[in-house]
Amino acid sequence: VKDPSATPRHEDHPTTRIAVIGAGLVGATTAYAILRTGIAAEIVLVDANQTRAEGEAMDLAHATPFERPSRIWAGDWDDVAGAAVVVVAAGSGQKPGQTRLELAQRNAGIMRDIATRTAAVAPDTILLVATNPVDVLTRVALQASGFPPSRVIGSGTLLDTARFRALLADFYDVDPRSVHVFIIGEHGDSEVPVWSLANIAGMRLRDYAAAHDQPYPEAELAQIFQETRDAAYRIIERKGATYYAIASGLARVVEAIVRDQHTVMSVSSLVDGPFGIHDVCLSLPAVVGRDGLERILPLLLDETEEQALRHSADVVRTAIEGVQAG
Ligand SMILES: NC(=O)c1ccc[n+]([C@@H]2O[C@H](COP(=O)([O-])OP(=O)(O)OC[C@H]3O[C@@H](n4cnc5c(N)ncnc54)[C@H](O)[C@@H]3O)[C@@H](O)[C@H]2O)c1
Repeated sequence: VKDPSATPRHEDHPTTRIAVIGAGLVGATTAYAILRTGIAAEIVLVDANQTRAEGEAMDLAHATPFERPSRIWAGDWDDVAGAAVVVVAAGSGQKPGQTRLELAQRNAGIMRDIATRTAAVAPDTILLVATNPVDVLTRVALQASGFPPSRVIGSGTLLDTARFRALLADFYDVDPRSVHVFIIGEHGDSEVPVWSLANIAGMRLRDYAAAHDQPYPEAELAQIFQETRDAAYRIIERKGATYYAIASGLARVVEAIVRDQHTVMSVSSLVDGPFGIHDVCLSLPAVVGRDGLERILPLLLDETEEQALRHSADVVRTAIEGVQAG
């Protein structure tokens, strides 16, 4: 007979709390995506603009009867305590006349402050950074929090990889989940598509196309990558910001962590060794689970891809140095 006194007490099973810092377009949409998955019992929104966070929390809470129950509120830093994951989407957008470097320096200051506060109130949490420039800010968050590299993850090329899969799926007329490919390196202009490992149904893209009487037009496929890489510019031209796809991606990372799924995804983290790259945050496929980023999976790249990855690492390193000098 089970000893009732041995029944685990409530504190042994803490409620799953997710904190979202920055309740702007990306943060609020991410909270909505998390809400829809049902993985969080509690979602707290923290924003420098408290009124904005309150409005978003109220609106989100009213969706719960249609979605899943979750307690959602606009909180302060004390409420971040105990969060399983702290998603950071706080930052300022580019002001007219402001250079990318000036924006990076400004957001780096915000990130230092957020990472330091997070470490103080939630020393065991996992930081998930989305604010741009995301690779640079992941490195800043790593340093300011003092967390081990496994607990500081940037969204990196998670979104670029998703965009690439969606566009290739459209081209080959299959489910985007059936297209396997990664974009690695910087989340930005120097990112690298890994064509050599792209596959559908386990067949390299070129072989898949040949076997199924479909085209493999190199110029058109190169164009698909360019559209992927430049998608943010095209969307921002049209609607001013991007947030749905990144929000779905961030919610997916949160789910992989909370449910300990050991999911392979391209996210940014400290790379120190693979491909001779040292002390830079950039994206490679990695296994994500309860402990955060469990391990990076270096890929078997061809020579051109490897060179392009090293170049991308140099670009990010220069940007990190620029921010540190500021
Ligand atoms: N990584 C990606 O793939 C990806 C995709 C889209 C957007 N982004 C980035 O996400 C960030 C947010 O974008 P957005 O469209 O939501 O911007 P937004 O302006 O709508 O929201 C930013 C929010 O951050 C808040 N904020 C500013 N400083 C803060 C601080 N110190 N503490 C708490 N909150 C603070 C602001 O009040 C605002 O509500 C930007 O840096 C953007 O470039 C990244």
